[in-house]
Amino acid sequence: MDDMRGGDPRLAAKRASESQVELSQQMMPSDANPLGNVHGGHIMKLIDEAGGIAAMRHARRPVVTITMDSVSFLSPVRVGQLLTLCGSVNWVGKTSLEVGVRVEAENPITGEITHTNSAYAVYVALDDLGKPCSVPPMILETDEDRRRWEEAQARQRIRLQRTKRKGN
Ligand SMILES: CC(C)(COP(=O)(O)OP(=O)(O)OC[C@H]1O[C@@H](n2cnc3c(N)ncnc32)[C@H](O)[C@@H]1OP(=O)(O)O)[C@@H](O)C(=O)NCCC(=O)NCCS
Repeated sequence: MDDMRGGDPRLAAKRASESQVELSQQMMPSDANPLGNVHGGHIMKLIDEAGGIAAMRHARRPVVTITMDSVSFLSPVRVGQLLTLCGSVNWVGKTSLEVGVRVEAENPITGEITHTNSAYAVYVALDDLGKPCSVPPMILETDEDRRRWEEAQARQRIRLQRTKRKGN
């Protein structure tokens, strides 16, 4: 039997592989500072785009970003490098979904690939009135899927506790 979790059981459950996203883009001078280092904000925008597409593919609804965890850049990205972002849904709640995005920078001449950073963002699916709406459950297929689910669920608990503490 499928390991089906989260979401609305009346909707057809989906595997992570059905919504995975891979975006590649060469970094241009307009994306960088005068020294040729790509702005962190530009990379965060691409993370949000990749994550949003994976979330939309899972929900098959428009989504908005409700939060993105803090992002650390492990190595600089330079103009001319090819940035590849892989987004995968890790966890789904009732109306929310967490997507993990792994970012790698490739030197297209040498083929050298560097892991720049990974980020987690949460999206909420919206109905036609712009209100949160239910998302399909996830089918977990592998131990890796189950590990990602457990870790994402723990992160989501912490996010919600923090939000409560702030009185939002
Ligand atoms: C997203 C939005 C519609 C949610 O509305 P809301 O009335 O706060 O909805 P709810 O309180 O029912 O929360 C909806 C879901 O978000 C989750 N959520 C709420 N606050 C959260 C937080 N700080 N971190 C993570 N998830 C959060 C809730 O747990 C709930 O998930 P669940 O249904 O899976 O249990 C509303 O907050 C909004 O429009 N925000 C602005 C979004 C935006 O403009 N983003 C940037 C551009 S895309």
